[in-house]
Amino acid sequence: MVNGSPHEKGCTYTALTEVAKTLNEEGIDTEIFWIGKKPLTGCTACKSCTKTGRCAFNDRANDFLDIAKGADGFIFGSPVHYASATGAITSFMDCVFYSDLLGGRQSFYLKPAATVISARRAGTTTTFDQLNKYFTLSEMPVISSRYWNMVHGAKPEDVKKDLEGLQIMRVLARNMAWFLKCKEAGMKAGVPLPVKEERMSTNFIRE
Ligand SMILES: Cc1cc2nc3c(=O)[nH]c(=O)nc-3n(C[C@H](O)[C@H](O)[C@H](O)COP(=O)(O)O)c2cc1C
Repeated sequence: MVNGSPHEKGCTYTALTEVAKTLNEEGIDTEIFWIGKKPLTGCTACKSCTKTGRCAFNDRANDFLDIAKGADGFIFGSPVHYASATGAITSFMDCVFYSDLLGGRQSFYLKPAATVISARRAGTTTTFDQLNKYFTLSEMPVISSRYWNMVHGAKPEDVKKDLEGLQIMRVLARNMAWFLKCKEAGMKAGVPLPVKEERMSTNFIRE
């Protein structure tokens, strides 16, 4: 679980801990990775990750890439900043997902994912759409809840009063746990992984 907020123990963290608590009750271990407050560089398209599988800017994106392969599922949390995900989590996810793809690490392939958004008031659904796009490009099954995964508040105490938001977090966690257990059972039963096709990049040019 990634806390993409500049606040280590803020509203996003409060939502993530509700998900973590429920996942733990379901027998799933969790870890919350805070991206921190230091500046994170956006992708400069240098493509050195093609050779190294890591980002040329050795920041929290690389720390996360070092542990991502060992995780079975992912939750990325972000506060809303100007009706979008924060600049920091956007830079972080650009570098993480691009390095992973170009470096051929396959840390995310067929691993369930979800995003959790926190806002004082508005911009949650655009941020939700934005972050889900990383997952659907990466062949990650997106786990849903019974609403879009958001909590409201300007401080953690507000989030604790958002009872519907907290319920959405718990439902999300149980759905994620159920999927993880089904996937494990399927793998044990010998259900084969999907047949892979060579990637095509036509850039809309047809001839
Ligand atoms: C630069 C900045 C921009 C923000 N923009 C929005 C916004 O567009 N909509 C909103 O509802 N809240 C906005 N907020 C408030 C935060 O999204 C909100 O307080 C959030 O719950 C904080 O989560 P955190 O404690 O995990 O950082 C903004 C906060 C900051 C610092």
